[in-house]
Amino acid sequence: MKKIGVLTSGGDAPGMNAAIRAVVRSALSRGMEVYGIENGYAGVLNKDFIPMGARSVSDTIQRGGTILRTARCKEMMTDEGRDLAARNLKEAGIEGLIVIGGDGSFHGAEALCRRGIACIGLPGTIDNDLAYTDYTIGFDTACNTVLDAINRLRDTMSSHNRVSIVEVMGRNCGDIALYAGLGGGAEIILVPEVPYTRQEILDYLGDFRKSGKRSGIIVVAEGAGHAGELEEFIKKNTDLDVKSIILGHVQRGGSPSNFDRYLGTAMGAYAVGLLAKNIGNRIVGIKNNEIFDMDIIEGISIPRKFNKKLYDVAKTVV
Ligand code: F6P
Repeated sequence: MKKIGVLTSGGDAPGMNAAIRAVVRSALSRGMEVYGIENGYAGVLNKDFIPMGARSVSDTIQRGGTILRTARCKEMMTDEGRDLAARNLKEAGIEGLIVIGGDGSFHGAEALCRRGIACIGLPGTIDNDLAYTDYTIGFDTACNTVLDAINRLRDTMSSHNRVSIVEVMGRNCGDIALYAGLGGGAEIILVPEVPYTRQEILDYLGDFRKSGKRSGIIVVAEGAGHAGELEEFIKKNTDLDVKSIILGHVQRGGSPSNFDRYLGTAMGAYAVGLLAKNIGNRIVGIKNNEIFDMDIIEGISIPRKFNKKLYDVAKTVV
């Protein structure tokens, strides 16, 4: 394979730039030409193909976001859009494509494989919601960002004997809430995977007072409740002083952690290795500290399993 493309798609995630950088430089070192495609699949449809040299990715490993920019592209969900995308890539002589994104992005990649473009998917999303891999690029940084916020909130909450409700990202996946909540010693962690009743929250807060605690942190994943509503509810039913905060897109930005730089770099280079062998239709992941690849459809069909054991551990250490 002589000419390949790389794009980022869906929500951005810290570490995507490390992956782009690794793709570009390892492809160049193998004598391939590399094209950066701007704005995700929309850039394939618009032929936004930019030749990348080693220097075009200088000074990017430490930057959050994605230098190629990203988008969620509705047209790539239609047959017409997918046909046009494959046609545009073929006309430009791009034989292989590396797609850095989540579940939806991988469906697009698989559709392009069926149209003769060898595609490799890299898991880039802060949500960690792809079951085939232990970790996605961006998750670790997002957890550290949430942790930093929790640390700061704890300082002021404990000074005022208050309870803070911190809403974090994760519509269907509670991993950010679980891991950052665990690291931040949250008193209550609410995730979409584990049903709860509001009465349980009140019961817990009653016990928490009895155990001598004067302040606390409740972490709620956006898919498990809204911080503002919970604040109102707790205020109405207790005499606790409660403050809520939605961390929002702050969680998506920032310089990637070393782990996300490692993951992006290792996976980017691995993906180029596959294309160099003319292998496509694969997604790259990490399991038991080994980078591996598997069939796209097989990988995205694996049902997600929430780490309930860890969730239960979090409950025993507050
Ligand atoms: O998928 C990543 C994610 O950050 C989710 O956690 C969140 O619900 C969503 O994207 C937000 O999307 P947008 O940036 O389009 O508002």
